[in-house]
Amino acid sequence: MTSRKILVTSALPYANGEIHLGHLLEYIQTDIWVRFQKMMGNECHYVCADDAHGTPIMLKANELGITPEALIKDVSERHQADFKDFFIGFSQYHSTHSHENKTISADIYNQLNAAGYIKTRTISQAFDPEKQMFLPDRFIKGDCPKCGAVEQYGDNCEVCGATYSSTELNNAKSAISGATPITKDSEHYFFDLPQFEAQLKEWTNAGHLQDEVSNKLAEWFEQGLKQWDISRDAPYFGFQIPGVEGKYFYVWLDAPIGYMASFKKLCNEQAIDFDEYFNKDSKTELYHFIGKDIVYFHALFWPAMLMGSNYRTPNAIFAHGFLTVNGQKMSKSRGTFIQARTYLESLNP
Ligand code: 2FM
Ligand code: ZN
Repeated sequence: MTSRKILVTSALPYANGEIHLGHLLEYIQTDIWVRFQKMMGNECHYVCADDAHGTPIMLKANELGITPEALIKDVSERHQADFKDFFIGFSQYHSTHSHENKTISADIYNQLNAAGYIKTRTISQAFDPEKQMFLPDRFIKGDCPKCGAVEQYGDNCEVCGATYSSTELNNAKSAISGATPITKDSEHYFFDLPQFEAQLKEWTNAGHLQDEVSNKLAEWFEQGLKQWDISRDAPYFGFQIPGVEGKYFYVWLDAPIGYMASFKKLCNEQAIDFDEYFNKDSKTELYHFIGKDIVYFHALFWPAMLMGSNYRTPNAIFAHGFLTVNGQKMSKSRGTFIQARTYLESLNP
């Protein structure tokens, strides 16, 4: 039997928090799978990276009085120490804030744009007049419009479960400055997902996904695919959209491309043929291990981005559930949240 050539990824952890047992569930699962492939004599590369962009990382750095670059450097060192001490055998661990990722992200965006898959339109959003920045839902707090519960976040009420838009909140306040948000217009860039409906329907039913995941996707298809907002206005920690002043790629645009970028670095270091792995007719295999909360990104946006920019699509996506403690989601407030480092201080990994 000829040996298979396999590229495997785990989801990229955000660069603003510590590695915890929920993350490790996935990295250990993936690591076991990769070790098995290697023992079978296959060529198997396992890549990952820190997911370094976005508003929460920018704000956390502001709060600490350091640059986002300094923050992600520190966090990356701690993440990698945790992985090393848990014996996770990455072939490469990189960062989405890398020159490889900047180049590939711009390249994919330019290809999507040239092919007519990028659209622009003006949208109205909550804006913090003091901080002079647009506010993602999770940075707006107010009273639930349905039940009146106070201090609820932008898009859903933890008390009554209602979902709404942040403009419906009563007594809305910016969670950053405390100012009352105003509504402001801005031009946004969208990835035109609906153009991929037929191709995605075919792909999601072609054996690449677990049945539960295909079923969930069928629901999303029924609701209709929507254009995906891939731009964010300055100030934002990320990559500028090529040729567009003051606008950046939304973190989720360059995050999965970070898989390719991390692999690209490995290819450069070990003389592996990147193109052999990512060309449209590649005979190599590509697998993504993820949690069920990010299926939408990996089973819809990601394959569509790859299709639209003439790359191969994944062979499979393996989605796992959440780690629970006594049947409930691991949580800080319940005191059941365990960081990798805390575990290592007392127990054998
Ligand atoms: O949900 C998360 O933790 C994201 N940082 C995962 C990104 S995975 C990939 F697409 F980059
Ligand atoms: Zn409510």
